[in-house]
Amino acid sequence: MFVLGIESSCDETSVGIVDGDGNVLSNIISSQVDIHSFYGGIVPEVASRQHISHIQKVCLAALSEASIDWSDIKLIAVTNGPGLAGSLLVGVNFAKGLSASLGIPVFPVNHMDGHIYAAWAKTDQNKLLDFQSLVGEQNITCLVVSGGHTDLAILKKYGEIKLIGETKDDAAGEAFDKVARILGLRYPGGPEIQKVAEKTNEVDSLPRAWMKGTDNFSFSGLKTAVYNKVKKYKNDKNFSSYIPILANSFQESVVDVLFTKTINVALREKSSGIVLAGGVAANLPLRNQFLEHSPIPVAIPEFKLCTDNGAMIAMAGLVNYNLRTFSQDFDVKPNLRVGEL
Ligand code: KG4
Ligand code: ZN
Repeated sequence: MFVLGIESSCDETSVGIVDGDGNVLSNIISSQVDIHSFYGGIVPEVASRQHISHIQKVCLAALSEASIDWSDIKLIAVTNGPGLAGSLLVGVNFAKGLSASLGIPVFPVNHMDGHIYAAWAKTDQNKLLDFQSLVGEQNITCLVVSGGHTDLAILKKYGEIKLIGETKDDAAGEAFDKVARILGLRYPGGPEIQKVAEKTNEVDSLPRAWMKGTDNFSFSGLKTAVYNKVKKYKNDKNFSSYIPILANSFQESVVDVLFTKTINVALREKSSGIVLAGGVAANLPLRNQFLEHSPIPVAIPEFKLCTDNGAMIAMAGLVNYNLRTFSQDFDVKPNLRVGEL
């Protein structure tokens, strides 16, 4: 059996196909990043129009790369939230059209759950966790860090994810993007900050918020602290050599907060493992911190499966296929939280 997953919640149009064991047969991603970087961030209407232009050819390319026919697809899975309403509508509408013409079901998928299930997707680079081992009771602490979310959740059992903590202001990825802008770097800010930070080992002191007493996060104070430093030193003749130090300090602070709080939750909940997922999980210092210092086994998807992609949506569809059915009348849900259906 094959599941076709469609992702259009933000600025990536993507279609991926997986088989019943979670093997990824194809994962085609069309990114709009060059268009939005011109504006310094995502312009929602532009994103929706780009999805409409690209979704059909991305879907056909996914089918061709997987070397299967339409008749082999048993289920269509599509992100119906969270995300930009106009962008989600394009994917959902396209998925419903495919479902009607092929006579097969279409399931709504929570984008955040998709990020988590990417850890079980199998590719040549990604053989972290066996999909069959996902069946039954689990106790896995999941940190999902993306442009719009910073969620700590527990995968309780197959198909059941419980939210434990979330950001109360900026998401980690959003903080990367906004701080990059403050530092005069391009969008998306995460990879840019990582690159600039590599130029130095020096750090300046920056705050780490809510390290104890709550499982929630706050990154807006850190962002403001960077802004205040820039305001103070921007007329200094050595300001350009200070930018890598600020980028490095900011990144170190985010990594410290995410790592410390996730480990605290995983130890307290007696988790058997940790999954690190979402676009910010592509950050090398964050990956290394977890891989080198976690006292509990950690699974982090390969880079392509961390940022938005259709294969992770197909994975979440596969999990749901084995558990439940959905009404075909579903709508988009721009504010869906991790674990919600
Ligand atoms: O999950 P994702 O692809 O899209 C959303 O669902 O939001 O995450 C995008 C976020 C952006 O904020 C981007 O700056 C961040 O992931 N990101 C990174 C890196 N690569 C992408 N953040 C830090 N370091 C990176 N290498
Ligand atoms: Zn995402």
